[in-house]
Amino acid sequence: MNKIISPSILSADFMNLKSEIELLNNSAAEWIHIDVMDGVFVPNITFGFPVIKQIREQTNKVLDVHLMITQPERYISEFKKSGADVLTVHYEACTHLHRTVQEIKANGMKAGVSLVPHVSVSLLEDIIEELDLVLIMSVNPGFGGQKFIENSYKKIRQTKEMITSSKSQAIIQVDGGVNDQNASKLFDAGADVLVAGNFVFKSENPSKQILKLMH
Ligand code: DX5
Ligand code: ZN
Repeated sequence: MNKIISPSILSADFMNLKSEIELLNNSAAEWIHIDVMDGVFVPNITFGFPVIKQIREQTNKVLDVHLMITQPERYISEFKKSGADVLTVHYEACTHLHRTVQEIKANGMKAGVSLVPHVSVSLLEDIIEELDLVLIMSVNPGFGGQKFIENSYKKIRQTKEMITSSKSQAIIQVDGGVNDQNASKLFDAGADVLVAGNFVFKSENPSKQILKLMH
């Protein structure tokens, strides 16, 4: 079990992004989660390459980019150039997922695939051995601060089983509604990386919140 925390900057103070990144640099978080939304795949729009490039200049942490965009294959090399280390696309957004995953890896990034809450883990059976990461969405993607969906535990366990019964080296990430009430249960169920937005940033002491998620 890895117990990596990936704070989502979606909930950060954008007017003070530099100091928010500095704060994460001095925290126990190993990754930084960056939510890219296009207003089509999800009903919200966030930010793109210039912002990611500037974050890259401020940190050596793993940049974990979660693409909530349609046809993400259009921008793989651009995300690499912007500094992404892990690039996660949505299963529901990719017609030729196998090809997209190969392209992400050929561009020198770790390849992740995410499932929205209603999509069954079993659909990953024929791609699992190619993946570096499976992202289980525990809310409907689009916004921070939503309520955790309890069915996610089952999906984490099923993903773990699929990985251990295959040659897959994939790790499991969970995103949405993560807090100190569910973090240890999520790690116990098989999660390796927990994303947390509101729980980390909407607090007086984000570094302390990150530690709470790890213990
Ligand atoms: C939601 C995003 C999440 C979001 C999580 O669509 O993918 O990464 O920032 O925020 P919280 O932890 O507040 O649910
Ligand atoms: Zn996310």
